[in-house]
Amino acid sequence: MDLQLEGKRVLVTGASKGIGLAVVRAFLAEGASVVATARRSTPELAATDAVFVPADLSSLDGPVKLVEAVLAEDDRLDVLVNNAGGGDERPEGMFEDPFSGDDDAWASVFALNLNAAVRATRAALPALTKARGAVVNISSSSARDPHTAPLPYAAAKAALNAFTRGLAEAAGRAGVRINAVTPGATRTPLLVGPDGLVASMAANLGVDHATLVAGLPEQFGMVSGDLIDPSEIARAVVLLSSPTMPSAIGSNWTVHGGQMKSA
Ligand SMILES: NC(=O)c1ccc[n+]([C@@H]2O[C@H](COP(=O)([O-])OP(=O)(O)OC[C@H]3O[C@@H](n4cnc5c(N)ncnc54)[C@H](OP(=O)(O)O)[C@@H]3O)[C@@H](O)[C@H]2O)c1
Repeated sequence: MDLQLEGKRVLVTGASKGIGLAVVRAFLAEGASVVATARRSTPELAATDAVFVPADLSSLDGPVKLVEAVLAEDDRLDVLVNNAGGGDERPEGMFEDPFSGDDDAWASVFALNLNAAVRATRAALPALTKARGAVVNISSSSARDPHTAPLPYAAAKAALNAFTRGLAEAAGRAGVRINAVTPGATRTPLLVGPDGLVASMAANLGVDHATLVAGLPEQFGMVSGDLIDPSEIARAVVLLSSPTMPSAIGSNWTVHGGQMKSA
């Protein structure tokens, strides 16, 4: 299937590992040229043909400066994938506190999981409009099942869903399609890495990390019986970005192995 992405210029945030890295590889496989960003590159990202531009997207001006740097190199931009999220903030007492952290923790989680996407999209919209391009925001099943994740994270992703759907109206009329992909539990450093969320849970519960990871699919009610491979999420992102999907506007595609129980 020709997704008509050959020669398109794509910016992927959070591209050094996990879902973002899989998205970079998927666009490159379609013949797109990819600008990849994170705070630091990784050997895995460096091994691809993507151009790396470092940026801290949690900062106030990080997203705008990133987009300016990308457009200064080449003023074309066809696709923006706002994937950076999660973050390394693990507030003290997160598991005991019903709010999962104080004001600073909430602000930091919102900065990365909501504000970065808003700021990057705002900065990129004129170029995307010229290209009649697309934006894909990476949400989370926790936006709809907030008991499955730290509360600030679930709330920020729910706000990202509202942002996606709301902006899709005006942007769509100007020719830019805005959509989201909602992953369930996906095998990435954020979830199962040595510094990931499950490692924090294992330490808090005093149980073995590998045992907790092995039990995750059942714990989450995943009918597939397995965590999701990042390449599956990447496939949905690439398809939503494709000009062959002109009617995909304001949609939110879930990929969750049966973990989400509502229709
Ligand atoms: N894994 C899951 O189960 C799951 C489920 C639902 C939704 N998601 C969502 O999927 C997206 C990707 O998650 P993942 O699991 O692939 O996470 P990951 O493995 O932790 O990768 C996160 C990426 O974001 C970058 N990043 C983190 N903080 C950043 C910052 N302040 N500025 C710029 N870049 C930053 C990281 O690189 P640096 O650290 O070098 O900056 C890395 O490239 C996130 O939006 C996450 O919320 C994940």
